[in-house]
Amino acid sequence: MTSQNFNMDHHWLPFTPNRSFKQDPRVFVAADGMHFTTHDGKKVLDGISSLWCVTAGHNRKPINEAIKKQLDTLDYATAFQASNDQAFKASEMIANMAPGDLNKVLFCSSGSEAADTSLKVALAYHRARGEGHRNVFIGRERGYHGVGFGGMSVGGIPANRKAYGTALLPRVDHLRFIHDPVNHAYIHNQEPVWQEDILLELENRILPLHDASNIAAVIVEPVAGSAGWYLPPQGYLKRLREICDKHGILLIFDEVITGFGRMGVNFGADYYGVVPDMLNFAKGVTNGVIPMGGVVCSDRIYNTMMKANEGAPEHAIEFFHGYTYSGHPVACAAAIATLTLFKEEKLFERAGQMGTVLGDAMHSGLKGLPTVIGIRSLGLAGAVEMASIPGSPGKRAYDIFMTCFHNGVLVRPAGENIVLCPPFIVEKEHIDRMVNVVADAIRQHA
Ligand SMILES: Cc1ncc(COP(=O)(O)O)c(C=O)c1O
Repeated sequence: MTSQNFNMDHHWLPFTPNRSFKQDPRVFVAADGMHFTTHDGKKVLDGISSLWCVTAGHNRKPINEAIKKQLDTLDYATAFQASNDQAFKASEMIANMAPGDLNKVLFCSSGSEAADTSLKVALAYHRARGEGHRNVFIGRERGYHGVGFGGMSVGGIPANRKAYGTALLPRVDHLRFIHDPVNHAYIHNQEPVWQEDILLELENRILPLHDASNIAAVIVEPVAGSAGWYLPPQGYLKRLREICDKHGILLIFDEVITGFGRMGVNFGADYYGVVPDMLNFAKGVTNGVIPMGGVVCSDRIYNTMMKANEGAPEHAIEFFHGYTYSGHPVACAAAIATLTLFKEEKLFERAGQMGTVLGDAMHSGLKGLPTVIGIRSLGLAGAVEMASIPGSPGKRAYDIFMTCFHNGVLVRPAGENIVLCPPFIVEKEHIDRMVNVVADAIRQHA
């Protein structure tokens, strides 16, 4: 098949340079295991789990079969005022995997919806406890929480925000970014140790500025994924938890990327030993095969919301929120099969082991190449950072991405970084291939 076999006039591609795409299309028509097949018959190695989603590898029969079976059993049922058996089973499995008292799952269909859901829960929870004035949110520079107005507002990626002006939520502030490019340029499976306490800014500036009593929640990704795999300083998340507790502020972890095994354990929360009040997930929960997202809330949040309605009539809804596709039975069947497969094949442990292989290969194969200014690896993910081309931010990484694609490897350009985050089934030979292809492309675009 060639690109002439389909008409490209009508699909407006997301987060893609549409004009240049049409000159050099990258169109997948099939996938299996670690590889795609393109429209022009080339094999491409999936070095990024199709954007952190396909963690168990492509075309996994147990997941496919569960979806087919579910379609023939219960294709869809409304989620409002009724539910389906798969939603209860999936939420039980997720709650059992989540740490601490994170036991109540609100489903949605994407990470963006999860972000907005968690922010709305925070406001509704504080209101239910008589603190409706708590309506300030704190995100972090370079954080990514999707493209809804809430997630975009607490997010800190300038290009995603710049067109939306006053449409962004008004009462939002941002923690400073967590990277020190001088002292922590090269990090492999260790936590960056900072001399400085970078959360003093929260305690000494941001909280007093808004008054801590007005702050509803802090939302962070345990590891900043979309920005380019930037790791938190040692002790950062524990200290963030303590500060939030001290001031009655909810802590939300956006684990859309770090959740379900990427760090070699269930969640980033487990890796760092910190339990948030809400944990957002999406992507890998269904191996990316069917859209699903969600927020796991603490018992405390749920119980507070229920208690606030104690005197209300039986038909009173406690939380006016939900999506038509919340807990879609086919998505839930996909999640159940995916989570079962993770367990049966011990894929999280494998992600941890292969993470060391990936990090070793990236540090030994890419450090010292022209323009490379940093490499960060942790769990089964790593980023190599290149010097920016003056006046053309992001161009070098984009060119490297294109060259890698033409050489048969899908990588992720993120700012000045190239990110590798392969499926957990990755083998050493795939890692070596990815790193060699990236190394050649870096040399070519130096
Ligand atoms: C941490 C995080 N939150 C939210 C999202 C948004 O997810 P979605 O694209 O499914 O809306 C992403 C997507 O990459 C993400 O990495």
